[in-house]
Formats: sequence, structure tokens, C-alpha cells
Amino acid sequence: MQKKTIKDIDVDGQRVFVRVDFNVPVNNGAVTDDTRIRAAIPTIRDLAGRGAKVILASHLGRPLKEQKKAEEAGKPFDPEKFSLQPIFNRLKELTSDIPEVKSLAFAPNCIGDVVLQAANALGEGDVLLLENLRLHAGEEKNDEKFAANLASLCDIYVNDAFGTAHRAHASTEGITHFVETCVAGLLMEKELDYLGRVLNAPERPFVAILGGAKVSDKIPVIDSLIERKVDKLLIGGAMAYTFFKANGYTVGKSLVENDKLETAREIEARAKEANVELLLPTDHQVVDSADPLNSQKTIPIDFTNAGHVGLDIGIETAAIFANALDGAKTIVWNGPMGMFEEKPFDQGTIAVAKAVAEATDNGAISIVGGGDSVAAIKQAGLEGHISHISTGGGATLEFLAGDVLPGVAALDDN
Ligand code: 3PG
Repeated sequence: MQKKTIKDIDVDGQRVFVRVDFNVPVNNGAVTDDTRIRAAIPTIRDLAGRGAKVILASHLGRPLKEQKKAEEAGKPFDPEKFSLQPIFNRLKELTSDIPEVKSLAFAPNCIGDVVLQAANALGEGDVLLLENLRLHAGEEKNDEKFAANLASLCDIYVNDAFGTAHRAHASTEGITHFVETCVAGLLMEKELDYLGRVLNAPERPFVAILGGAKVSDKIPVIDSLIERKVDKLLIGGAMAYTFFKANGYTVGKSLVENDKLETAREIEARAKEANVELLLPTDHQVVDSADPLNSQKTIPIDFTNAGHVGLDIGIETAAIFANALDGAKTIVWNGPMGMFEEKPFDQGTIAVAKAVAEATDNGAISIVGGGDSVAAIKQAGLEGHISHISTGGGATLEFLAGDVLPGVAALDDN
């Protein structure tokens, strides 16, 4: 680990500002997936247990952008939807039986006199959750004054928000210019450790599985994986159709990025040159666009006609992909194999989830990132069979693309 972590510092009696990523789905005032909240608990427990006065801060959604959009469309905007109150409620439940956490309170803002007083009144082991950082324009603008205001709340800064480390915002970057000690939390350390291993010293065979709608979202990651000579690159999801069309196949009405056909050809050529085995689906689940509700079937890719819409990989492809994972020592998976949110088009993604879990049981180190892939692992009850489930979406992709994450770069070197 090139960066200092909370393990390297004394926090007793100090006000510690912890940037967490509590950007979680909330529906009707309740958190529907608390993974990211749970993932921050080891840091909170450790700091509180060592006598820190803990101040937690996060964003939730993109309230100011949503407000602007609503105003432009003449629609009502409900700021309540962006309050961290539901997250506070869930955090309270999750920390109720943690003896290190002496108390948990919620601040109605993230800067200002009331918040400063609340931060200064904290005792050792007390935890204060601040209201949504992004209710202030200064957060995303990385405004100096806003960053200084956040910094005035604390003596030590901790970044445990791996999922937001690719953003240079006031709470992830700006604040570090105003606090002397800036270190990583335990979740940040774990993420950097697993993902760093993939980038720098993957045990081989190293297999990457990429899916999702667009090739364009994944180009930097694909480039980086080929450069690092991943042994096999399995591509599923709608992004595969751009490769098929680039190779002259009929893709019907499947999702294609027509401006990325040349890119797809270049990727294939580079993979070949680097001796990377690139596997695309051989069959897929399709529906007929004229009667989508009653026409689902599985066909070989080259049986696709002009009316077909491809929505998932087929059984044969799932078996080929599972085979490709056999004996793998490092696996990275990001992105669904099909329209995961709609049954039966979740089957390919679930099949890949099972294959990754099995390969992990057989000795591979597996890292899964991205909402739908992680959801598939959970849906299949396989969380315990994956080495590391990343809490990052965009951050994981940027890290795997070899980019420097500003939120990490800003921390103290070890
Ligand atoms: C995420 O969910 O990927 C992070 O919380 C970052 O959110 P953002 O894309 O709105 O910056």
C-alpha cells in the first residue's frame, strides 16, 4: 500500500472526518441495498474503538443537477429525496450492537455553525453523520472555501469512499489541502489492495469478463487489460453486438454503437497481436421486435435476422465462458451479460456469476464490480464465494484502466 491508512496514525481524542460513499439506492424513504454502508463499518468501528470523534460525510445522488433538470422541464423537485436521513436510519440499525460506537447523531447540514458546534461537542467514540454534501454547489466544483469549511470540522481526514475516488470534489480532494493528516480508511485500503493486485501482479491465467450496454464505456479498461496481457477476455452483453456488426454479422435490432465499429475491429486486432484470447458469444437469447412478449428463443449468433433483438447470451455461450474460467487464478468481472433486470434475460448473467463463484472455490482470486454483476452475485446468494466485491462502479473501471484516482492521489504517501 503506497498510501498511509488509519492503521498508521493515532486518532485518540481527534475529530476525524471520514469521507464515505453512502450513495446507495433509496426507495420510499428506505435503503434498498446497504452494501456500501456495511462496507464502511470496519473503519467506523476501528476509529470509534480507538477514541476518535467520528464525522461521516457522503453524497447521495446528484441533487443540484436533478433540480436543474426538473426546473427546465417545469416539473416539481423534491429535495427530501436527497436527504441522508434514510441512510442515517439504516446506519443506526447496523451500529446498534457495536459497542465501540458510543452514539450516532445526524446533522441537518454538512457545514455551518450548527454542524461545527456538533462536531466540537463529540466525545470519544461518538459518530456524527452529516447531511448530503452535494446539496452545496461547492462540493462538485471542488470549491476552496467549501473545502476549507469541511476541513474546519476536523483534525484528521480519512477517505474511505473508494466509489467516489475518481471524482476530484471538495470532500475527496479539496479538503486534503487544508488538513495535515490525510489517510485511507480500511475499505479504501482493501479495494486498492485487490484491484492493485489485478493491475500490477495478477496470478495467471488471468481472465476478464466484460459486459454491459456500451463498448465506449469500457474502451479504456479493455485497452489496459490487453496491455497487461490478460490471458482471456470474455465479452458479453449488448456491447458484443458492436463487435458482431463490425465483423459483418446480422445483428437485427440489437443495441449497437455504429460509431464504434472501427474501435471494435482495432480492439480485436490488438488482442490478437498481444496473444489475448478474445471470446464473444456463440449463441444468444433473442425476441422478435414485432412480438417481443411471445417470441423469446435461443439461437446461434449467425441465425440472427433483421427483426431480432438480442437480450442475453445463450446456454452454449454460458458454458463456453464457464469453461474459459476453469483453472483461472485471477478473474475480474464487470458488467451484465444481458438485460439482467428483466427475466428470463438474467440467466446468462446468473450463469456467469455461478461460474465465477465456482472458479473462486477452486482457487481463483475473483473481483466483481458494477451494479448488475454484483446484484447477480447477490441474487444467486454467492457473496461468500467471491474474493472481493468492489463497491466502486466508475471508480473501479477508471482504476482498472490504469488512471490515477484523484481521491487516492491526494492522500499521504506511506
Ligand atoms: C457511484 O455511485 O459510482 C459513486 O457514488 C459516484 O457517484 P457519481 O457518479 O454521481 O459521482
